[in-house]
Amino acid sequence: MSHSTSSAAAGDIPVFDRIDDFRAWRREQLKQNKTVGFVPTMGALHEGHLSLVKAAKEECDSVVVSIFVNPAQFAPHEDLDQYPRTFDTDYQSLASTGACAAILLPRVSEMYPSGITLDRSQQRGTFVDVLGLSHQMEGIPRPHFFRGVATVVTKLFNIVQPERAYFGQKDAQQCVVVRNMVNDLLLPIRMRSIPTCREADGLAMSSRNRYLTPEMRKVATLLYRALGAARQSVVGSGNKERKQILEPAYGIIEEVVQQVKDQQLGFDVRLDYLSLVDVATLTELEQLEESQPAILSGAVYVGTTRLIDNILLNAEEL
Ligand code: PAJ
Repeated sequence: MSHSTSSAAAGDIPVFDRIDDFRAWRREQLKQNKTVGFVPTMGALHEGHLSLVKAAKEECDSVVVSIFVNPAQFAPHEDLDQYPRTFDTDYQSLASTGACAAILLPRVSEMYPSGITLDRSQQRGTFVDVLGLSHQMEGIPRPHFFRGVATVVTKLFNIVQPERAYFGQKDAQQCVVVRNMVNDLLLPIRMRSIPTCREADGLAMSSRNRYLTPEMRKVATLLYRALGAARQSVVGSGNKERKQILEPAYGIIEEVVQQVKDQQLGFDVRLDYLSLVDVATLTELEQLEESQPAILSGAVYVGTTRLIDNILLNAEEL
């Protein structure tokens, strides 16, 4: 596959690895009065990503997808080097939607002109930090993460200049962080959030699911089932206290942890955290008020793969 920067034969999606070339394409869209929808990704695309592309195409004339594995959102001990890079199949998936007008595949050197090292204390240059929303939940085990996300999304927005940008509710805190960033920085972009795409058994689709062995895959639904049990204790049993809401979720997780141990499957299942927060402030709730929009979320390790998921309470969209 050539990563040509010019518009190839009809039906092909142009792939831009130089920012200047992309900007020339973007100017053409403006001249032709076309609205641009933007779906930022790190590649290894699955149906979840493609659902964002299709949602964007319903609302915008031209949809741009970026594929960029962003170093700034990985810690030195995380999976930056192992993160799956599958450009050829990603390209085919995007072509099969018929909804993607251009692919942006920028280089690290252009995205980070001041350079980028994963060691935060050595980083130089300009970063975007969304204070108050980045330190809790996913920010506890990954304190560098949302600064990396907010920074790269700002850069990508500056390149793509979309009218609308599409994010998955699968990454609930990311949606809240980006929405606040757009608001705080007065960016003329409409942020859209799209429901989580799941496998038939409920497992949230994720690029990292491919790390799971068949045995791991069988138990990987535990988080979704745990969150569902917590939701049921609100909508079914009318519980309002955090402890009562989360109790059935902890129960399901402990059960699976024990089963996996007893069956000596050769890997561990471990809970990282469960969380119940207010949608707007992301503060942990001891008590859920009547109709209060909230996010029930969590992270588990299945083997060494970390899975995250969430469901909303009293809210349709983030
Ligand atoms: P990535 O994990 O590739 O996800 C790209 C987008 O796809 C995100 O908005 C994510 O929430 C969405 N997505 C992932 N799984 C989904 C699912 N099962 N259903 C619906 N949407 C899903 O998130 C990132 O990349 C990066 O942090 C990024 C925003 C690109 C910044 O680097």
